[in-house]
Amino acid sequence: MKWIYSVSLAVSLAMQPAFADTLSGPHPMTEQARDAYVNQLLSKMTLDEKIGQMRLISVGPDTPKEAIRDMIQHGQVGAIFNTVTRPDIRAMQDQVMQLSRLKIPLFFAYDVVHGQRTIFPIPLGLASSWDLDAVSEVGRVSAYEAADDGLNMTWAPMVDVTREPRWGRGSEGFGEDTFLTSQMGSTMVKAMQGKSAADRYAVMTSVKHFAAYGAVEGGRDYNTVDMSPQRLFQDYLPPYKASLDAGSGGVMVALNSLNGTPATADSWLLKDLLRGEWKFKGITISDHGAIKELIKHGVASDPQEAVRIALKSGIDMSMSDEYYSKYLPGLVKSGAVTMAEIDDAARHVLNVKYDMGLFNDPYSHLGPKGSDPQDTNAESRLHRAEARDVARKSMVLLKNWRETLPLKKTATVALVGPLADSQRDIMGSWSAAGVAKQSITLLQGMRNAMNGKGTVLYAKGANISDNKGIQNFLNLYEQAVSVDTRTPQQMIDEAVAQAKKADVVVAAVGEAQGMAHEASSRSELALPASQQKLLAALKATGKPLVIVLMNGRALTLVNEDKLADAMLETWFSGTEGGNAIADVLFGDYNPSGKLPVTFPRSVGQIPLYYNHLPTGRPYNFEKPNKYTSHYYDAINGPLYPFGYGLSYTTFTVSPVKMSSRTLPRNGTVEASVTVTNTGKRAGATVVQMYLNDPVASLSRPVQELRGFKRIMLQAGESQTVRFKIDAEALKFWNQKMQHVAEPGKFNVMIGLDSVRTQDAQFDYL
Ligand code: NOJ
Repeated sequence: MKWIYSVSLAVSLAMQPAFADTLSGPHPMTEQARDAYVNQLLSKMTLDEKIGQMRLISVGPDTPKEAIRDMIQHGQVGAIFNTVTRPDIRAMQDQVMQLSRLKIPLFFAYDVVHGQRTIFPIPLGLASSWDLDAVSEVGRVSAYEAADDGLNMTWAPMVDVTREPRWGRGSEGFGEDTFLTSQMGSTMVKAMQGKSAADRYAVMTSVKHFAAYGAVEGGRDYNTVDMSPQRLFQDYLPPYKASLDAGSGGVMVALNSLNGTPATADSWLLKDLLRGEWKFKGITISDHGAIKELIKHGVASDPQEAVRIALKSGIDMSMSDEYYSKYLPGLVKSGAVTMAEIDDAARHVLNVKYDMGLFNDPYSHLGPKGSDPQDTNAESRLHRAEARDVARKSMVLLKNWRETLPLKKTATVALVGPLADSQRDIMGSWSAAGVAKQSITLLQGMRNAMNGKGTVLYAKGANISDNKGIQNFLNLYEQAVSVDTRTPQQMIDEAVAQAKKADVVVAAVGEAQGMAHEASSRSELALPASQQKLLAALKATGKPLVIVLMNGRALTLVNEDKLADAMLETWFSGTEGGNAIADVLFGDYNPSGKLPVTFPRSVGQIPLYYNHLPTGRPYNFEKPNKYTSHYYDAINGPLYPFGYGLSYTTFTVSPVKMSSRTLPRNGTVEASVTVTNTGKRAGATVVQMYLNDPVASLSRPVQELRGFKRIMLQAGESQTVRFKIDAEALKFWNQKMQHVAEPGKFNVMIGLDSVRTQDAQFDYL
């Protein structure tokens, strides 16, 4: 773990744990010092205290603050999550220091997935920026705000590759591509952990959900995952590995089973692979209630068995499930579980606490008591400029017929749709400690941009959905979606009346926050019927129609693509979303985002992803043949391909130039193109480099992303973009599960999306 070596030793000796006599600090941040310290500490701990360290709990109805106080006093808890203010965290750490025997500090964790107080675009939106500097910015600011709230760990990044738009959790990840997700995940880890997770404004990351959660069958959350070892190693595992190589101190284990074994019970995954082959030294944490769920998975007959299997499989810490505390003492007594196994798990917990600097200063992320913010939600604690900057970069222009966009600020704009003025939805799922009231809606953003020069006429136009079942689902735990009690026709009439008075109509449609979340799988990917009816009525006015999408997954938009004069994908863009969308709509920012997922035409095409294998009977659009691979009632391709996104300017890409026709074994070859901005305004775009191995010992994907570069060009400017290719980029897992690059011809494809590319070839010798 790279991050543990370079910490500044800000030591608060007064706060030293009780065994400071023998284990006195300061404690240097080296593995050797850590191992010696933790071994000594373990030697002083009782079995119950060790088991206590392996328990992670959340304050809630089942475990109120008083119960936690009692558990702290008796050394029965190792870490807390979902407590997010400095006073609350301080109170618990105080209890540890005042009441517990060994005064082993707690660590505090939370789902800081795309921001803490300031909410950035959802990760799927962030991925659309293809901008690693933007990822770093999100990571740094999120870690700063989280650490400033007293947190030590985040349950992020989520690097589950997914080809399943029906799965609501795709919103939390970086899309369908392995290479892009690996780059984003590892960048996020480095940014959040900084030089050391012990630094005042860094937090430790826990990569999730290990492994392959994004491949749940049918896109139904928590469902089965079953796949070939080649696909697992080639497409699904690399982002976890990249994030761990970047130094992530934690791993959250997935809820799904993989090839029949629940991840929580998978000793091959958690021990042989993670610790054995990948040399992971940090902590593994089960997901919420996952140890109990081993019974329902059908691999344990009772709680004792579930606990024994989870521990022996490599789960160090249990999240929100009392089984470890309840059953491990008995299992040790009966000999079913050894003391060495308990020591191992407890050691991993203590190790990360050491790496977080908590043994040097349990209050390292809290500071002195008087420094707590007066108002946790104070405006001054937000990073609005950074949020707006990143949100603008995350937007993808899908269509712009006859330059409908950008709009004029002097225009009269009818802004309609259930998402046009929703402060909550624009924040997206897992918006951590973000406060909806602090977010800027599109209505507010447009007003800010127009600044009285033009007029915005607003009407809601439709409810998110008129389906009572869906409304109830969204409002199950709280009033998340407000349902207008007027009839659908009354709402549409109002919107149409506004549209008729306007020069242009902007319709903000898509999904409510709760539609793209954990446990929010969908079997349909169309806009809800209420919103489709609204769009049809708006189109009928004859006014130019701009569709602004807010959603957390790829949708099926064939009809919308026909209706819209322009369409902008904004995902859920966060605290500054409304301002950022207005920046794009009015041309203060030229859109540059590119899709990190394929947009299918219909649900029936799923899974539809760009890096698929060839078939023996490929369909030829120009020469159709019945006995080829296709649907007889639909075309094969996507509506919008992976990597796609327009700009207000135009670019050309030159033919590919190869530095050589051959790539020697230990060398490199360079592929380059010259990109020219042929339009009238400056703009950024993303140059994408794909490779293909046309003849190999296994069928290889028709193309795979192996490089990308985001560039900014003034009108008329050209830039040569170079990609170095080495044997590593050609490797794949063969039938014998060896990671090899096979000699032969390779195709290089470079373009501004995955379809329109310039192609060249080289030979790998
Ligand atoms: C369950 C989710 O699967 C996981 O992603 C999350 O981090 C935990 N709950 C904690 O909130």
